[in-house]
Amino acid sequence: MGAIVEVAQAHGLAVLEDCAQAFGARYCPPCENCQCTAATQQTLANQFTGAIGSMGAFSFFPTKNLGAYGDGGLITTNDDDLAERSRMLRVHGSRQRYHHEMIGYNSRLDSLQAAILRVKLPHIDRWNQERRRVAQTYHQALAGLEMIVTPRIVPGHVFHQYTIRVLDGRRDALAAYLKAAGISSMVYYPIPQDHCPMYKGQSPPNPVSDRLANEVLSLPIWPELSDATIEYIAATIRQFFQRL
Ligand SMILES: Cc1ncc(COP(=O)(O)O)c(C=O)c1O
Repeated sequence: MGAIVEVAQAHGLAVLEDCAQAFGARYCPPCENCQCTAATQQTLANQFTGAIGSMGAFSFFPTKNLGAYGDGGLITTNDDDLAERSRMLRVHGSRQRYHHEMIGYNSRLDSLQAAILRVKLPHIDRWNQERRRVAQTYHQALAGLEMIVTPRIVPGHVFHQYTIRVLDGRRDALAAYLKAAGISSMVYYPIPQDHCPMYKGQSPPNPVSDRLANEVLSLPIWPELSDATIEYIAATIRQFFQRL
């Protein structure tokens, strides 16, 4: 994000953060892996997602870290004009009922979903902390396997997914092996956006996202996942590679 913010600042662009998977996540403390300047690192260090760019969009889809029982979402911004425009877009482009100034949407947060989120909100920090524990346990249990790349563990990460990369074209075979052992896994996301019909032919080739779409595999993760189950999943992954 630091590098993106710098490019945007240099060219007068707004940055919209997709925070759908990042409720409660924070920007990293300064570190040597950063691709932005020290000044940007200092400014952004430990900032919550949603407070980094001009606006942040969060999702309360039921599977998210903070999930409702149906659809819902949240926009953050520090800009009064963008806030007012968002409030208008949310209710058919109107400030005042039946006075439509622009074309908008019906995008109000349903009160039932709001009530559910209100009950769940006080628990989110603990749930995110438990997701970090799960990620850390995977990290240790999968250490030393040369055919996979595990995600970097950084302090502010909330691990909506724990996504490994499986090298040498073995991702689908590993997923099938896990499935046979009663372990589900998912590919987020199998089709890069530039291959979707609405964007097809509109962008130059994106070899990195093409490669990643064939390598990524998300392992089970949720706050209550026990260390014993994580060890079983990791042992099954080790078995898969030992059999090759
Ligand atoms: C990264 C990312 N962005 C955006 C979305 C869309 O969220 P919603 O379905 O609540 O609009 C999702 C949900 O799957 C997501 O994971």
